[in-house]
Amino acid sequence: MNLLVTGGSGFIGSNFVRLALEKHSKIRLVNLDKLTYAGNPANLTDLETDSRYRFVQGDICDAPLVEQLFAEEQIDMVVHFAAESHVDRSITGPGAFIQTNILGTFVLLEAARKAWISEHRSPITDHRFLHVSTDEVYGSLGDTGLFTEETSYDPRSPYSASKASSDHLVSAYHHTYGLPTLVTNCSNNYGPYQFPEKLIPLIINNALAGKALPVYGDGKNVRDWLYVVDHCEAILQVLENGRLGETYNVGGNNEKQNIEVVQTICDILDEQAPALSDGQPRRSLITFVKDRPGHDRRYAIDAAKIKDELGWEPAVTFEEGMRRTVGWYLDQVEWIAGVVDGSYQDYYERMYVGR
Ligand code: NAD
Ligand code: DAU
Repeated sequence: MNLLVTGGSGFIGSNFVRLALEKHSKIRLVNLDKLTYAGNPANLTDLETDSRYRFVQGDICDAPLVEQLFAEEQIDMVVHFAAESHVDRSITGPGAFIQTNILGTFVLLEAARKAWISEHRSPITDHRFLHVSTDEVYGSLGDTGLFTEETSYDPRSPYSASKASSDHLVSAYHHTYGLPTLVTNCSNNYGPYQFPEKLIPLIINNALAGKALPVYGDGKNVRDWLYVVDHCEAILQVLENGRLGETYNVGGNNEKQNIEVVQTICDILDEQAPALSDGQPRRSLITFVKDRPGHDRRYAIDAAKIKDELGWEPAVTFEEGMRRTVGWYLDQVEWIAGVVDGSYQDYYERMYVGR
């Protein structure tokens, strides 16, 4: 397997790269990552000496670079994570989301089409292009109901609209050119290496520092939380055994209101971390703030298809996953400090250039 992973230095990508190398001894894995603010090469420092692994700093929108990688590495599988991923940033600056999430996906699809499918040759069915997407493409649910693979698309933020566009492009390349594609639409992930702009690591980081814990609106928006390694296991399952052209929903079967998540983190930290200087419980830091514009109320996934067809289901409970996650952030003071002050952004220069 010559696997191209895009966005492998981000949160889910870095967990996936480590898992794929652990599970497959004969793999060649190339990680193409631009190292935006969200990409952190320190996430994969332990792999620098692994001869099966190659890191390439570059942009998925750079067609010549992507085509060159397909040719020189004889790429036969792609797992495409690279994206602008934060909803709040897509509200304040949608341009980068259109560029990377839509145009970048188009560049990758074109490179795969050119490398894998010629006019005179039928599609190579042992190749795979797996596009990692989100449940946010389905829009927002009321108090009941679940997203299935048949739910109509109804994206409501620039982020989800850009991901929906990329999903449609992937589907079009399958139907038009026979490209061997797979799509996964997953719910909210949490776990090690998540950038502290997202709810769970942001709350952990602020709660450790005794800062306010911002909860948008009434705090009753619901997300379906999944431990990141479970998501990565699902992606490997779909890559290896999924039916070409199909979409698989991936979820934790674990709906929580945001306020419950924040309170859980406060309570774990009160137990495991030094007390706040004023001796107050961390719940005292919770601050309700102005709501996110267009804030989707509820997401919930029906993950029956991936369970029935591929036997995948989440292995880590929310309670266990949260303890592991809080424990990881408590142990990673240096990682958090580097991420928060942005110093890791010159890590590549320091570690690779001139070495
Ligand atoms: P992330 O923001 O942590 O990481 C994104 C990575 O992509 C970073 O390493 C970044 O440097 C890289 N990148 C960004 N633009 C690039 C470009 N133009 N060229 C090359 N690399 C680029 O994101 P994440 O949370 O790990 O999400 C990964 C994927 O999974 C995304 O496609 C996202 O839509 C999807 N997803 C995320 C979640 C979640 O809860 N985080 C849930 C479902 C799906
Ligand atoms: O559902 C999958 C999606 O989950 C992924 O596609 C996205 O890439 C990922 O970022 C995530 O999107 P959300 O918008 O759901 O995640 P976020 O962590 O930003 O917010 C989770 C919930 O918490 C959401 O209802 C907004 C709320 N929130 C968020 C932040 C950052 C707060 O109340 N306060 C905050 O400070």
